[in-house]
Amino acid sequence: MYNYKDLGLVNTKEMFEKAYKESYAVPALNFVSIEQYNAIIDAVIEKKSPVILLASPNLHNQLGFEMIARLVQSGTDRLKNLGISAPVALHLDHGMTYEQCVTAIEYGFSSVMIDGSALPFEENIELTKKVVEYAHKYDVTVEGELGTLAGAEEEGDEANLNSHYTDPSMVEEFVRRTGVDSLAISIGTSHGLVKLKPNKDGSLPELRYDILEDIQNRIPGFPIVLHGASTISPKFVDMINQYGGKLKQAIGIPEEQITRAAKMSVCKINIASDGWICALAHTRRILAENPSAIDSRVFTLKIRPELVELYKDKMEIMGSANRI
Ligand code: 13P
Ligand code: ZN
Repeated sequence: MYNYKDLGLVNTKEMFEKAYKESYAVPALNFVSIEQYNAIIDAVIEKKSPVILLASPNLHNQLGFEMIARLVQSGTDRLKNLGISAPVALHLDHGMTYEQCVTAIEYGFSSVMIDGSALPFEENIELTKKVVEYAHKYDVTVEGELGTLAGAEEEGDEANLNSHYTDPSMVEEFVRRTGVDSLAISIGTSHGLVKLKPNKDGSLPELRYDILEDIQNRIPGFPIVLHGASTISPKFVDMINQYGGKLKQAIGIPEEQITRAAKMSVCKINIASDGWICALAHTRRILAENPSAIDSRVFTLKIRPELVELYKDKMEIMGSANRI
């Protein structure tokens, strides 16, 4: 059992207040390996950016909550020893049940998402409110979700084929009745590699900034969250396929559209897939180039700098670099 403050973490409250006021978004970066985690901290050091570490409930099955807490603390210690005061939050991504949120808080998470977006409105309110009541006792911030994104959150998860844009007329009531600290909305992004479909003329559809603006006007000053925001660079998809993979080309969210959302009321932007395909593409390449290797460090050591470049780019695109 840990208190997040002892792990060197902060909740998202002040992070979002500053991001909102200064019109940028904090990168929320999913990690599933030590290399990925170290690369995120390397990028924070180089870019002087706040960061939100995203851990899904599945990460517990892989590492165990004790290791997640200690791993995260090793990064905040590293920042402290270098005299870098970058705020770091550890956030439960897509918590689906009250119990998952409680356990994460007990193990030192400073922020949790309760994803009741698939539930009817009243049930989503009831579940979210229950999590908020528990979390706020420990000064932990809570993200809720209204509207649903298409796609699958993790490999092996069932893909949700339908998306429903968030109905702006429902957000005020949801925020007021639940007491959430931030709200994830659906404006055209989707999880995983199932993303944008080009228009008939080949141009790319725009995210529904009209919905975002409507929400912003109804709840001014309130932090909005964007999920499913990976760009899915063709260079990683091509590299995976060049070295034996079989991925279909997918079009992610263009960088300029991310920047535009970050300048509005969006204060947190979630990226998982871009980190995964970057790590996997380079792992496949390095293994193919070193067929007689017997030590996994042949690729673990080399994918870290590739990931650092990816995360540094995200910090520039979202405008979070040099904000500490
Ligand atoms: P991507 O699949 O676009 O990276 O979305 C990640 C996400 O929303 C995690 O919660
Ligand atoms: Zn998500």
